Amino acid sequence: MSTLLITGANRGIGFELTRQLIARGDQVIATCRAPDTAEDLQALAAAHQTLTILPLVVTDAASILAAKQSIGTRVIDILINNAGIIGPKRQSTLDMDFDGFLETLDVNTLGPLRVLQAFLPNLEPSVWPRALTITSRMGSLTASPATDRIAYRASKAALNRLMIAAAGDLKSRNIAVAVAHPGWVQTDMGGAQAALSPSESARGLIEVVDHMTLSNTPRFFDHDGSTISW
Ligand SMILES: NC(=O)c1ccc[n+]([C@@H]2O[C@H](COP(=O)([O-])OP(=O)(O)OC[C@H]3O[C@@H](n4cnc5c(N)ncnc54)[C@H](OP(=O)(O)O)[C@@H]3O)[C@@H](O)[C@H]2O)c1
Repeated sequence: MSTLLITGANRGIGFELTRQLIARGDQVIATCRAPDTAEDLQALAAAHQTLTILPLVVTDAASILAAKQSIGTRVIDILINNAGIIGPKRQSTLDMDFDGFLETLDVNTLGPLRVLQAFLPNLEPSVWPRALTITSRMGSLTASPATDRIAYRASKAALNRLMIAAAGDLKSRNIAVAVAHPGWVQTDMGGAQAALSPSESARGLIEVVDHMTLSNTPRFFDHDGSTISW
């Protein structure tokens, strides 16, 4: 049984990860921006004492600190940085909503690093500490060379670079760091036509996290455990 902390756990992939992990007996600290309106999470928490819900906004250092203070010294084995946004409507290099681009970087790139830094003291005492961040194949420089949604692509490419660096910086502390593409998933972000159900994607991501070690990371995993080129 592991203890996990997940961001953006109220809907989409984050909720499904939480649901499956609780079902198999793990302890989950499910964080989201607005716990009061997170009805699915609340219903799950009502039936499972192993689920704790906490407010956490990944762009807000004070909210991250408050979440950290409320869990205190509780050990976290696995951090899953899942929260993310697709970014503004206008995001081509020829027509960019720059405020929207900045927000996309704040949520998708800076957010996961803020969260990782804050919870390092909780990860370090774990016997098998892991930090998995949900990225996107759209952030691969080589596997996905298209130019659409470039703010989102750039935010995930920069995120990947940060997590490669974090893996190097945290190796001596025994913390395995990786990123994973969840597939194209039927969520608010992925849309109804997407290839995978949230359940299929979460199952794959849990397999990934179950096999993360210092020796097979840093790595850009696909949801099926294969490797995507940076
Ligand atoms: N769906 C896909 O096909 C796909 C493909 C590749 C990668 N991904 C990645 O997978 C991850 C999850 O995506 P999804 O499809 O589940 O998206 P989603 O259904 O749109 O859910 C996004 C989640 O992120 C949360 N969030 C957004 N901004 C936040 C912030 N500032 N602080 C805290 N939480 C915030 C949302 O909370 P609210 O409910 O409060 O807005 C929500 O819980 C993202 O990182 C995304 O980039 C998804």
